[in-house]
Formats: sequence, structure tokens, C-alpha cells
Amino acid sequence: MSIETFVQQLDELAQSAASTFAAAADAAELDAARVEFLGAKKGKLKALQKNMGSVPGESRKEAGMKLNAVKQAIQAAFEEAQGRLGGGDGTDARDPEFDPTLPGTARRIGKLHPITQTINELKDIMGRLGFTPAEGPEVEDDQHNFEALNIPRSHPARDPLDNFYLSVAQSQAESALSSDNPLLMRSQTSTVQIRVMENSQPPIRIVSLGRVYRPDSADWSHYPMFHQIEGLMVDKNVTLADLKTVLKLFASNYLGDEVPIRIRPSFFPFTEPSVEADYYWNGKWVEFGGAGVVDPNVLRSVGYDPDEVSGFAFGLGIERLCMIRHQITDIRYLFTNDVRFLRQF
Ligand code: PHE
Repeated sequence: MSIETFVQQLDELAQSAASTFAAAADAAELDAARVEFLGAKKGKLKALQKNMGSVPGESRKEAGMKLNAVKQAIQAAFEEAQGRLGGGDGTDARDPEFDPTLPGTARRIGKLHPITQTINELKDIMGRLGFTPAEGPEVEDDQHNFEALNIPRSHPARDPLDNFYLSVAQSQAESALSSDNPLLMRSQTSTVQIRVMENSQPPIRIVSLGRVYRPDSADWSHYPMFHQIEGLMVDKNVTLADLKTVLKLFASNYLGDEVPIRIRPSFFPFTEPSVEADYYWNGKWVEFGGAGVVDPNVLRSVGYDPDEVSGFAFGLGIERLCMIRHQITDIRYLFTNDVRFLRQF
């Protein structure tokens, strides 16, 4: 083989290698290309090297130098492609920097949803204030969602248009519940107050965080499913002052500042007196949620003696808290799960 032919073959190979490396879409493709061209046994460069023996003796030296130059060029093209694909970061076993004796590090492949992060944080804050987590079912009955909470039959909150009542097959319904105790998706976490009090005696200090359902049409501040945090404390001599203290500590912990609290008169069938609480943050009063002193009728409905014990309860929207702190302008961002949004948390 003439030296000219040999040089031409090498040049063609270098070009072909460079364009193949450049076209590799990922590390696996690049690695396959590396084996194709630079493979120690069956690589194309290795195959060409064999032709060197047939180059006339006086051109052998020139052929050898050309071979080395092309080898280096192909190697450089490979490294460039590796850099482009983010390789060579020490995770490749062929990388001279790679130390297989070091312990591995777990790769982060995801994180918790902002609502889950908020729930964990709120649970933590309430835990530090001595409140134990409690849970209740999301499919509830009329008794726990309304009746025991002192919400009478005629109350508008029970309107079928404002609740997700479930139509259960008659045969199931007959054994599980009578028709005057229909099932529904719970509209508030206050149901958990009843479930806890039915099954335990004071002193009680629980916090319940979970989903609630209301047939609202979705807009920037409404969604048919959202989350609430419910707190309940029952003991001897629990007062509205205790409620204010807990809410203030709660807000201050969550927002990381000394946060002023104010309460305004309100009405809930299951608390008396009832209040709406606001906290002062970023220069304005922000609505916190509903709260109050547990109504004696509620205490009676679970067999407690209102002359012996008293309590307070509060129920706050978790999305609201999360949105205010992170300046999220539309609740729907929290449920459409666009990764461009989720990555920010
Ligand atoms: N359950 C009420 C709501 O959903 C909030 C609340 C809870 C009010 C506890 C008072 C006490 O709006």
C-alpha cells in the first residue's frame, strides 16, 4: 500500500470518527462509537494499523507518525463529545479520576411535592408544641362530618350542592349505614376531632392534616380538593387565650418571624365563641382560618362533661399557608404538577 493511500485512509477515518462522536445523543451511543473506532481489538483504527506493514519501508516512519497524530485527533474528538454529554465527571469507570474504592453517593432522583413538604413542616411545628398527629377517613358519614359537630339537619352546609355525597349500592348501604347517615367525601378535617374524642379521654392534644373535598369550581384560590390542618386541645380549663398562644407560635414558627395575631368574631356550629384568625405578615393582615372554643354540644356528643373539660379547635387551609409563604399566585399550580413549577421547591 502506498503511503498516500494509507494517509488518505487515516484521514477518512478521523473524519468519520469525529462526525460519529459529534452525533452521539447520549453516553451509551458515544461509548459504542468509541469502541467502534478506538477499540483495542476490533476498532477501526486498529484495523488500519495493520496496513502499515504493507507501506514501503522508506515511508514507514512517516506512516507511524501519521497514525499517532490521527489516533490523538480521534481521542480528542471523543473527549470533546464526552464533555458535551456531561461525561468525564468521575462516574465513568474508564475515567482516570474515577476511584472505585470510594463509597457511592445516592443520586437524587426526585423530591417531595410542595404540599407534602408543607404538611411535614406543619406537623413538625405542631409536634414541638405537643400536638400528636391523628388521622381519619376521607370517606366520612353524616354523623362525623355534621351531626356530632352540632351542624343541624337544616344547616346550609349540608346542602347536596355543597358536598360530594356518595351513592352507595343499596345492599352495601343497608348493612353499613342507614339512609339517614349517608356517606360523603369529608368537607372538613373537623371530622377527626370527633373520631379522636370518641376513642380517647382528655387530656387531648392532636393535629390532623389531610384532604378535604368541596364541589367548588377551580379558580386561582379554589380547588375541589384541598388540604386542611386541624388542631384540637381538650383539658381542664382550656381557654381562648390558649388558642391564641398556639396560633401565634404556629404562625411565628412557620413564617420564621415574630408574627402578630388577631382574632375576629365569627360563627361555626361546633365552636362557641367562634373566631376567624388573621396574622400580620409582609405589611398586611392575612386570613389564617377558623377557630374557636369547642361547643359544649360537641363535647356532649362524644360523651364528655362540658362542666369538667373544655377545649379549643382550629382549622386552616394548607394550600393557603403554602401559597402565602412561597408567593404562589394560583392554587392550580399545586395540582397541575408541571415540573417547571415543582422543581422550584
Ligand atoms: N372546619 C372549619 C372550616 O372548614 C374550620 C374550623 C375548624 C373552625 C375548627 C373552627 C374550629 O372552615
